[in-house]
Amino acid sequence: MIIVDKKGSPFEVNSFRSWDYPCLVAMYDAFVPKGSFQGMPPVVEEVRHKWIKGLVNVGENFLAWQEGKVIGHVVILPDFQKRDAEYLIFVSQAARGKGVGKALTDAAIGKVKDLRLKKVWLTVDAYNFRGIKLYKKAGFEMRREGSSMTERVMEMNMD
Ligand SMILES: CC(C)(COP(=O)(O)OP(=O)(O)OC[C@H]1O[C@@H](n2cnc3c(N)ncnc32)[C@H](O)[C@@H]1OP(=O)(O)O)[C@@H](O)C(=O)NCCC(=O)NCCS
Repeated sequence: MIIVDKKGSPFEVNSFRSWDYPCLVAMYDAFVPKGSFQGMPPVVEEVRHKWIKGLVNVGENFLAWQEGKVIGHVVILPDFQKRDAEYLIFVSQAARGKGVGKALTDAAIGKVKDLRLKKVWLTVDAYNFRGIKLYKKAGFEMRREGSSMTERVMEMNMD
């Protein structure tokens, strides 16, 4: 799907395909700041690549592309027993604030509905105002504190 960003430049959001892996790794290797979002993306290269591998092997992944490069990534990690999924999103620094995060989030929520899951949830740092604003606009609601003083859990019920 082709979308025009807030600066008038086109970008695409597509499901991850196995041969996209090197381009996804390239986005995370260039990502700044590393390790700043609850320790993600991991700073140490070997750990970071293992983390990416885990996300693409277990999750439902969507990538945003612009000029042949990956500029954003969203993944949902379904738990079919609980019928819910964890949601994670990263947009490269130069591509932020242009509507890429919203487009990726729409794709992820569409997949949650397709999978007939009941709930999608995320953890976010209480000071990540930009992220929290995106999530609230998408329909997530603040639920409770997470595993640390500054971590928050947000949820969206699908019914
Ligand atoms: C959080 C993040 C995913 C948002 O993606 P994005 O592409 O910048 O967001 P969008 O341009 O689609 O904006 C969507 C909404 O986010 C909020 N937002 C985006 N940029 C913002 C800014 N600079 N200040 C405040 N709110 C902002 C707004 O509500 C915006 O909606 P609006 O443009 O209609 O006002 C992105 O900034 C990012 O990857 N940050 C670093 C990693 C991160 O925080 N990941 C999440 C960890 S929990």
